[in-house]
Amino acid sequence: MAATQQLSHVLPLGSRVNARGRLEVGGCDTVELARELGTPAYVVAEDDIRARARAFVEALRARHDDFDVLFASKAFPCTAVYRLLAEEGLACDVASGGELALALRGGFDPARIYLHGNAKSQAELEQALDAGVGHVVLDSFDDVERLEELAAARDVRQQVLIRVTPGVAGDTHAKVSTGQADSKFGFGLDDARAAIERLRGSSALELVGLHMHIGSQLLSLDAYRPGVEALASLGDFPVYNFGGGLGAAYVSDQQPPTIEQYVDVNVRALHELLGPGKRLLLEPGRALVANAGITLYTIETVKRNVSTWVGVDGGMSDNLRPMLYGARYEALLADRPLADGGERCHVAGKHCESGDVIVRDALLDAPKPGDVLVTPVTGAYGHAMASNYNGISRPPVIFCKDGAARVVVRRETYEDLAARDVG
Ligand code: LLP
Repeated sequence: MAATQQLSHVLPLGSRVNARGRLEVGGCDTVELARELGTPAYVVAEDDIRARARAFVEALRARHDDFDVLFASKAFPCTAVYRLLAEEGLACDVASGGELALALRGGFDPARIYLHGNAKSQAELEQALDAGVGHVVLDSFDDVERLEELAAARDVRQQVLIRVTPGVAGDTHAKVSTGQADSKFGFGLDDARAAIERLRGSSALELVGLHMHIGSQLLSLDAYRPGVEALASLGDFPVYNFGGGLGAAYVSDQQPPTIEQYVDVNVRALHELLGPGKRLLLEPGRALVANAGITLYTIETVKRNVSTWVGVDGGMSDNLRPMLYGARYEALLADRPLADGGERCHVAGKHCESGDVIVRDALLDAPKPGDVLVTPVTGAYGHAMASNYNGISRPPVIFCKDGAARVVVRRETYEDLAARDVG
């Protein structure tokens, strides 16, 4: 019965159906947002991100004294998100010079920024040293040589962590599994021992600890403890970073571990396998921002051939995840989000590829051109991986809070598309 049906738990916290029967996110009517600001658009419930950031901090504070939560900013690198999470007291993981520039712009204290990357350039290392980044996470012997030389030339002692691939594979899509021995990331266990030895003699680099990141979108926590065991075999350090990876629920039948469970497993592993008095860093990306975001599209066409194809005004240029990882999403209509049942449809993007399908087998109630269609859980790696394929302008990011909406990234214009095209 429509009246008793609940909105999916994958929607941003605080989402509801308003008196007009429409989906409301961050207190804003999504049909009105689409009308006023256009589609496609990423809509973000600011309070959802804040609540999740606080949940990480509180779960850690309840279990361990010395810790930091790092926002893995690749998940949603825009100034407003950096600013919000800096305000919440988080530290920050950046994976490039561009993310570093945005993190600084968003107000992160450079001392609480960690620079990652398996192929950092000399320019990025120089940029990090210039900015006074607190820690560089070393990923290869080339990284060690290059950073040591640059730090020595400036007469600074740079604190570093070593990224270790612990030889543990998380249960996730192969493209986002990073803990296995044969990886482009980090040092395998033998090389890690050699790197630790190598750094003992360094006056320009101060090795303070070890890092691992097993993989992303992990729906089981089982791989963390074996990963920590592998780190424990490498000696005793003051700082440990166990990475990110906590999965998000993309569709209603997914129930990932909670933030508390994730923190609990990691703190226990720290206490039991590495002992007291360690500084613990956790590095979530997706779990902070994925569920806070939805995408609004407008339906342009409805075609009934073998299947029913609902064509929308975006697609793989704003959400590449279904194409890259076979990721599943749900779809609902903004002005009748609780409609019971409906027609089985494929929600297709507007790009020139058959693979450009955002949601398969969505049940939509009499979809028609002009309807606003919502795909939940696009806060992580949506804006981050957007492109201009087919000359499509990238969507705006709209923050919503208490019924007020503000554009924090504006929609790209055709002038923007031509801005770098100096030919
Ligand atoms: N730390 C490091 C070193 C990482 O490489 C990553 C993600 C994270 C932390 C954060 O992981 P998270 O908590 O978000 O799982 N584009 C893919 C995800 C790639 C993740 C890359 N690294 C996707 O859309 O699923």
